Amino acid sequence: MAKKDQGGTEDPATVSRRDFFKTVGVSSLATGVLTAVDAEAQATAPRAVGPGEVPIRLRINGREHALEVEPRMTLLDAVRNKLDMTGSKRVCDRGSCGACTMIVDGRAIYSCSTLAIESQGRNIRTVEGLANGTVLHPVQQAFCDHDGLMCGFCTPGFVMATVALLEKVPNPSREQARKALDGNICRCGTYVGVLEAALTTKGVVRG
Ligand code: FES
Ligand code: FES
Repeated sequence: MAKKDQGGTEDPATVSRRDFFKTVGVSSLATGVLTAVDAEAQATAPRAVGPGEVPIRLRINGREHALEVEPRMTLLDAVRNKLDMTGSKRVCDRGSCGACTMIVDGRAIYSCSTLAIESQGRNIRTVEGLANGTVLHPVQQAFCDHDGLMCGFCTPGFVMATVALLEKVPNPSREQARKALDGNICRCGTYVGVLEAALTTKGVVRG
């Protein structure tokens, strides 16, 4: 409270010691609260990483891999260029052809449009993980049996998309299979063989 002068009127320029301490106490409390809020906001704010390489871990085909990547690196480039697993192909590099298809947490995804750093903690599967030693996965075998490939560049992507479909829908109709594979492009035009391969492995693939 401001002090009153001898005439009983308040002198706004004069602040009693008690008022001064009250003011200081309130502002310290406010500063303390703000500091705690700031600290919490900082602790929960997304942490900036990069632009240089940062260590990450990827679980691919059941194996843990430790690698260093720039945060901007795609999952496809990390797998091909850092881990030397070149089964997944880089064709359009813009999410339109499907040659780079991998299965992540059970879903077929374009790995050229997925960041490696975001793929940590996920279950990543590539075409390298399908065969059992020298025995091809039933879908791979069906592609061979039904001429589902010519140059083979699109094949790993089609195989992974087919596996993802059959693990989810074990007995798809022709239309369902066609729809599930329409995110993949074959420039050699092997669509008939690809569809036959997918349909003859119905019920063979287990999720
Ligand atoms: S290379 Fe990924 S969609 Fe074409
Ligand atoms: S087999 Fe050549 S692009 Fe499909």
